[in-house]
This record gives sequence, structure tokens and C-alpha cells, in this order.
Amino acid sequence: MQATQDLKEIRQRLEATMLPFELDAAMPIIEEIHRLKREKHAVILGHNYMTPEVFHGVSDFVGDSLGLARQAATTDAKIILFNGVHFMAETAKICCPDKLVLIADPKAGCSLAESITGADVRELKRQFPGAPVVTYVNCSAEVKAETDICCTSANALKVVESLPDETVIFLPDAYLAKNIQLKTTKRIISWEKGKCMVHEQYTADDIQQYRKQVDDLIVVSHPECDTDVTQASDFAGSTSQMEGFIRSRKEKNIFLITECSMGDNLRSVFPDRTFLSTCHTCPHMKKITLTKVRDALLYEQFAVEVPEDIRIRAKNSVDRMLAIG
Ligand code: 13P
Ligand code: SF4
Repeated sequence: MQATQDLKEIRQRLEATMLPFELDAAMPIIEEIHRLKREKHAVILGHNYMTPEVFHGVSDFVGDSLGLARQAATTDAKIILFNGVHFMAETAKICCPDKLVLIADPKAGCSLAESITGADVRELKRQFPGAPVVTYVNCSAEVKAETDICCTSANALKVVESLPDETVIFLPDAYLAKNIQLKTTKRIISWEKGKCMVHEQYTADDIQQYRKQVDDLIVVSHPECDTDVTQASDFAGSTSQMEGFIRSRKEKNIFLITECSMGDNLRSVFPDRTFLSTCHTCPHMKKITLTKVRDALLYEQFAVEVPEDIRIRAKNSVDRMLAIG
């Protein structure tokens, strides 16, 4: 989704979650980032989990992993600054080898991506010969290179169903795999070590408490949660699909079961709704701050690189996913 570039409108959006003195400190940095973007012909992509000043303040495009991967693949900007975690910026580099792809903090990792290596995938292929490997994009380029086709939480079922095989290796998110298993007759082989450190903290008990206490409520969760949580929800989907579901409903109160900043960002988009959350934050996403974003553009740091032999193989599995939708 395209974000506004109008500084007055940006300030108004940020007023939903920031105090006047915080805004007074942030606005000059936001203005500087907009100037640097124009001077350097850069595009800024912002994941739904960025803090409001990064999400609403400086992004050209915002969205989920799938939407931003598509945006990266088609941009004509010289520089892509990816405000998200490392695997997302790496996916942009896989798609756009000739562009300078930057991440404001290269240590912004992901517990799912860190749970598996290329050697682990090779071993699984040895154990289940002939079974195709689907990997969630939350993994390294090295893992993508061992993969037949990638997916995101927005298209995982579609990707699995697109394959002719009855047995599919689905990596690395064990809970997303469990959620897919509920919806397909295929046999899903999963990777038990792969869990999102944020979404694994939610329980179905949280949902029962809110349902008892709050009227006019919908519960919206991410499929990186265990199946007891997604099944107790009214909807489970990717971060952008969650927003789409909320837009399609009229309930006043939304219990949002996903990373904390998403609720803050949606407060500006849906000012008449109340967002409730037990609010778990992703320490990796939170490494991307406004000042680091400014420095990334100013000093053109930190460049994301992928060795060419790995990139070409990883691109095949990303391209296959993008062709499916
Ligand atoms: P989305 O693709 O739904 O935005 O999810 C990415 C992610 O890291 C969720 O934790
Ligand atoms: Fe990874 Fe979970 Fe953070 Fe998303 S929220 S980047 S899956 S650790």
C-alpha cells in the first residue's frame, strides 16, 4: 500500500500514538529522511510492525512480507531501504541484485529464520526423498536456495495446494505448518524448532478472557500462533490480511493477536475503533529506529549482499511464489 508523503498529514496520523513533545523531536528527523530520499532516489519500504514514526513517518510503501516483496521486485528506485528484518531486505536483494538494498540495522533478525540452515533442509530432503520443499520467506537466502517454492502467511495454503505432490515439507514455522495442515488433505512435514518468539506467547486463554469482558469484539490473529489461538479467533491471516478483515467488519473493539506496533499503526488508520492487545513486541523489528533509518540513507549503510550462486537459486523459489500470487 502506498503511504502518504505529505508532512502535515503524517503529523496528524502520528498524533494518534505520540505526545506533542515526542512529535516535536521526531518531525525534523522525518523531514530530513524525506529530503535524503528525494536526493538519493531511494524508496523506503515499511513492514506493518515498524513503530508509527517509521511506519507512517517515512515509508513510501507499507504492508506485509508479500506486498513488500512485490514492491521491491518492481521498483525503479536506485536504493531500496527496507525497514523490516534482515530476511525481508535479503528477499529484496534476491529480486533486485543491481540495486543498493539497505537495512538500518543488520542485526534485525528473526527467531524463525535463525531456527534452520541450508544443511538442515538438505537432511530433510534426504529423509523424505521426492517431497517438495515449501519455505516461509522468514528464512535465510541459503535456505531459500534449497527450496522448491517460497510462501508467506498470505499465500501459504495456495502455494501448498498448487503442488501436485501428496507430501510436502513445510519450513521453518511449525505453527504455520500446523495451521496449513488443518486446511489441506496433503501430509505436511514440519520443522519443530521453528517458532516465532512473539506469536508463540499468545494463548487461547487470552482470547477467552477478552471475549468474557468485552462486548462488540472481534479477535484477529496471525497464523504464526498455535492452532488453538487461530481457531479461537474470528480470522487468522497475514498482517495485511488482518487489516483487510478489520476493514470489512463493523465491530468497535478489535483484539489484535500480533506484534504490538501493528495496533499502534492501525489506531491512525481506524480512529473510530478500539485496539486491544496483550502487546508482545518483536525485539528484531524494534531495532529499526528513526535515527538509524536517517543514518542508513545518509551514509548508505548497511548494504545487504547475497552470494550470486545462492541468489540465483533462491530467486527461483521466490519467483515461483510471486507467479502464484
Ligand atoms: P506478514 O507477512 O504477515 O507481514 O508477517 C511477517 C512476520 O514476520 C510476522 O511475524
Ligand atoms: Fe520473526 Fe516473529 Fe519477529 Fe516476525 S515477529 S520478524 S516472525 S521473530
